[in-house]
Amino acid sequence: MDAIKIVGGVPLKGEITIGGAKNAALPLMAATLLTDKPLTLINMPELVDISTMSNLLRQHGARIDQSALAPGQGEAGATGRSMTLTSERITSVVAPYDLVRRMRASVLVLGPLLARMHEAKVSLPGGCAIGTRPVDLHLKALEALGAKIDVKGGYIHATAPGGLKGAKVVFPKVTVGGTENLLMAAALAAGETILENAAREPEIGNLAECLNAMGAQITGIGSGTLRITGVKELHGARVAVIPDRIETGTYAIAAAITRGKVVLKGTRFELLDSVFSAMRQAGVSIEPGPDSLTVSADNGLKGVDVMTEPYPGFPTDMQAQWMALMATADGASMITETIFENRFMHVPELTRFGADVNVHGASAIIRGRRNLSGAPVMATDLRASSSLILAGLAAEGETLVNRIYHLDRGYERLEEKLGACGARIERIVGG
Ligand code: UD1
Repeated sequence: MDAIKIVGGVPLKGEITIGGAKNAALPLMAATLLTDKPLTLINMPELVDISTMSNLLRQHGARIDQSALAPGQGEAGATGRSMTLTSERITSVVAPYDLVRRMRASVLVLGPLLARMHEAKVSLPGGCAIGTRPVDLHLKALEALGAKIDVKGGYIHATAPGGLKGAKVVFPKVTVGGTENLLMAAALAAGETILENAAREPEIGNLAECLNAMGAQITGIGSGTLRITGVKELHGARVAVIPDRIETGTYAIAAAITRGKVVLKGTRFELLDSVFSAMRQAGVSIEPGPDSLTVSADNGLKGVDVMTEPYPGFPTDMQAQWMALMATADGASMITETIFENRFMHVPELTRFGADVNVHGASAIIRGRRNLSGAPVMATDLRASSSLILAGLAAEGETLVNRIYHLDRGYERLEEKLGACGARIERIVGG
């Protein structure tokens, strides 16, 4: 299994180009199942999760063509690839366990398959390291649209013989994936669907705009109430994936935690307001430019409390990285995790760097200190892995982050991007 070796303590200086958002790209790819016409996505990131979704969609019958992005396409500074997905014929409505267990977002094929084929059989995603993560809210909402759902033998078997019918759905809890599945299902349902307490993440906006470009009728984009008037069929479109706000935030913290100065290109300040305002309170300078952000920090950062919340609150996907930064700030800070029940697994690993962190239920108290020291550590999930990389960049001496396959699911060319800013970082293959 690959590992990453870092010799820390170097203030990062340079430029990093942010890729397309993984969490936007995955539902956009699933939208191919709604139409027999080609859907072209530009600014696609190159990540293991994207390959996993491609494999899943191929076995449903999608044809996927990829090409390098010509300069001038996508957001300025973006370097990703473009991908054209065509699902002329759906050859299977089954999403098998073997593919779904690798990535929870596989469950996003459920809504589109059910809408177009009136049937889907999708493996239950199962647990994952950060919590139980059920899909009950997806299923209840699809039932409200007339689906009959049977969970048996580890599979969700959903049918809607006469097609889905629009309905009012009030989500009891904000769910990103649930909102996405319902948007796609409702796009082809008969009549009007209203989604209340819908997720407002920018990735939802990206999907809704894409569906509209494909001929859907969705209003209320960006708000907690989405109205969808179903249409008989959708057509092809060409859509850009928004910049990855979690990659943006992770590299912004890389600049701050090493007390360096990094220009982040191809991204936007407003995607990550909550994190940037907490960083500014901590004493980090963030200067937005027309298509870039300059992030810099000196010593003397202060501890700032944060609580994770659905968008526009502080994202749970930035919680572990924030903890690494707070471990190097002056004074104490508190992090409260409200989205996932088991998302502090990075704490014992961060303490190996000398971080002073105590967990009490859903909150962690961090007492910052000036110097962390390098250590061998183990990655447990995607964002936890990036917090260990960040701590390693700040720490004096050598760090070895083991089990980094999680990182490859969500960060493209991480060593290259950090290395270009002066980080002493290398991948040890098979380490
Ligand atoms: C998405 C993101 C993930 C992020 C998360 C929260 C993708 C591919 N992944 O995950 O990176 O951490 O949003 O911002 O976009 N829940 C239920 N029942 C359900 C669905 C969710 O109880 O049917 C709970 C979850 O266990 C969790 C909370 O609701 O506690 C939010 O989950 P949700 O927003 O659905 O997360 P994902 O879409 O899986």
